[in-house]
Amino acid sequence: MDISFHDAIKERLIKEFAGIFGDSKGVSVFFAPGRVNLIGEHTDYNGGHVLPCALTIGTYAVVRIREDDLLNMYSVNFPDDGITTGKIGELVPRGVSNWSAYPKGMIYTFAKEGMSIEKGLDMLVYGNIPNGSGLSSSASIEMLMGHILREMYGFEFDNVKLALLGQKSENEFNGVKCGIMDQFAISMGKDSSAIFLNTNTMEYEYVPVDTGDAVLIIACTNKKRGLGDSKYNERRSECEQALELINKETGRSLNGLCELSVEEFDSVSDCIKDAVIKKRAKHAVYEDARTVSAVRMLASGDLKGFGELMTSSHISLKDDYEVTGDELDTIVEEALKCDGVYGARMTGAGFGGCSVNLVKKSYADDFIKNVGAGYKSKIGYDASFYIVNIGNGPMNL
Ligand code: GLA
Repeated sequence: MDISFHDAIKERLIKEFAGIFGDSKGVSVFFAPGRVNLIGEHTDYNGGHVLPCALTIGTYAVVRIREDDLLNMYSVNFPDDGITTGKIGELVPRGVSNWSAYPKGMIYTFAKEGMSIEKGLDMLVYGNIPNGSGLSSSASIEMLMGHILREMYGFEFDNVKLALLGQKSENEFNGVKCGIMDQFAISMGKDSSAIFLNTNTMEYEYVPVDTGDAVLIIACTNKKRGLGDSKYNERRSECEQALELINKETGRSLNGLCELSVEEFDSVSDCIKDAVIKKRAKHAVYEDARTVSAVRMLASGDLKGFGELMTSSHISLKDDYEVTGDELDTIVEEALKCDGVYGARMTGAGFGGCSVNLVKKSYADDFIKNVGAGYKSKIGYDASFYIVNIGNGPMNL
């Protein structure tokens, strides 16, 4: 289904490429999805579990290798930026100045890993993931670029390595200390399946997503965020402080907070005197336990139990991890007022972006109408809604 679904967009983008770069001779077209995380938030840099899935919306690129070493990149989403030009061997980490920092980071990281590229390229990019929405538009373009480099310049490695290259690029080139979840969810995406990943061991399992009488609805607050300007790195360091205290207290050498069970955490948590740091750590440990239970419920078709864990996850992200904010809290509160809702929670880093909701099909229209109206009357602008389809990882179109 994927290829035909993308056909119309592909044709349009090839024409746009010709308009920007003169003609479209010899181009190739690629796609990489966005992702939504069903549960397991802010656990991936604490050695915990996550349960994301790749979407059928994502990022497209029309690409052609050049004879010289110029890198020319144009985004249909940011026409005012025009064509970003640079030399392939002269990329330096400068944080996130605009969208092109993500594909540039991948080229830089490939070179660092001994996969240097000499010939440049012309590239036109288009994404249909709302950017800054918490659906990983940045990891999508990273995985897209990594896949393009692998395909067009003949490198050989698997999709797990692709994810690790993306994370390295984001950590080192863009200065965002993200975990592995987003890149892994995208590079390893599989139609109709969620990915249950243990970020401590990197073991993973595909879990069929059969939502029975329900659908997954993404509600976007339209409050933009970028990881670069969020408190993401601060949360990460708070967890590191908690881990250090627990390791000191217990004499253990845990790599991540999520190696502790809830009971173990409760028995040692008093060694963390700072109440804020303590609740950050509590979120990580409890969220990990919720994620492990949620997978069992999803697999056995217990949508009620799964939905309740989604909602508990949101409450923990609001009260203990404090990464929600008025917009996400309002959109979830409005969702929970509606009939036919199994569960609702923010997804992704937080501080804006989207919620994910498990809603009975027969109530989906009412849900969108009522949450939309309630959100607008409290926040003052519209939310947007998408019924989610779960798709595959990066592909050649
Ligand atoms: C962002 C990061 C991920 C993960 C989530 C929170 O999406 O890129 O690595 O930490 O936030 O769960």
